[in-house]
Amino acid sequence: MKLIITGSSSGIGKAICSKLLKLNHTVIGISRSPICFSSSSFSHEKIDLADLANLPENLKKLQQEHPNIDGIIFCAGRGLLGSLEQHSFNEIKQVIDLNFTSQAILTKAFLPLLKKRKSGNLIYIGSEAALAGKKNGAIYCASKFALRGFTQALREECIKSSIQVTLINPGMVNTPFFDTLPYSADESHSLQPEDIANIIPHILSQRPGCHLEEINLKPQNSIISHKNPIASIS
Ligand SMILES: NC(=O)c1ccc[n+]([C@@H]2O[C@H](COP(=O)([O-])OP(=O)(O)OC[C@H]3O[C@@H](n4cnc5c(N)ncnc54)[C@H](OP(=O)(O)O)[C@@H]3O)[C@@H](O)[C@H]2O)c1
Repeated sequence: MKLIITGSSSGIGKAICSKLLKLNHTVIGISRSPICFSSSSFSHEKIDLADLANLPENLKKLQQEHPNIDGIIFCAGRGLLGSLEQHSFNEIKQVIDLNFTSQAILTKAFLPLLKKRKSGNLIYIGSEAALAGKKNGAIYCASKFALRGFTQALREECIKSSIQVTLINPGMVNTPFFDTLPYSADESHSLQPEDIANIIPHILSQRPGCHLEEINLKPQNSIISHKNPIASIS
């Protein structure tokens, strides 16, 4: 299969690229930073997905270069944790633009192609934050709830075209996701990015009549702690 994978430079997206390349799939990775895999089946497109003003033009180029893809795996995303008053206008906009709007626009760009072929996979990385609103997660949860509602509606839209729309909702995963957040995940109480990557071949190999709609994964016991405990007391 030939698949576009966003967020290919790190964490879950990188692990999925690595897994699919080992299984001889062709992968087009999207991220802002470059990434190399020792496989001639990998190519990289440098696109800032949160730059919505230039996204349609960037995607037009992508469509022309890759008119024959079998699916997209949407892993690019960022976190934003803290109380609502702590977030700036720009932070709120960037999270919604990247975690939701860019994914809808990328889907829209390739949907006619997949519908014409009457097959394909659209796989989105949601979060446990898509399932329940939690303290310090107002905007992040909102971005993931939006993605979940989007996938539910899109699934209905795609039924006649036999396109599989799958949302994966992981709990805490041990990736650089937390590097820019005031919280850190306990490595030994987290999922590993490979746990998510290992599910993907299973989704891709489903027969057209069997849809894997949503998959929820959790570490046995997740532990998240504030990097600056004094700041968290308020
Ligand atoms: N880690 C967790 O605990 C966890 C749990 C549940 C769900 N998730 C979700 O899983 C997804 C992947 O997260 P991760 O844990 O793998 O995080 P990560 O290691 O920080 O990876 C994020 C990826 O997104 C890309 N990205 C960020 N901003 C971008 C932009 N403006 N344009 C293009 N690409 C961009 C990054 O590449 P560049 O920086 O090179 O652009 C990177 O490849 C996210 O949607 C996240 O919400 C994570």
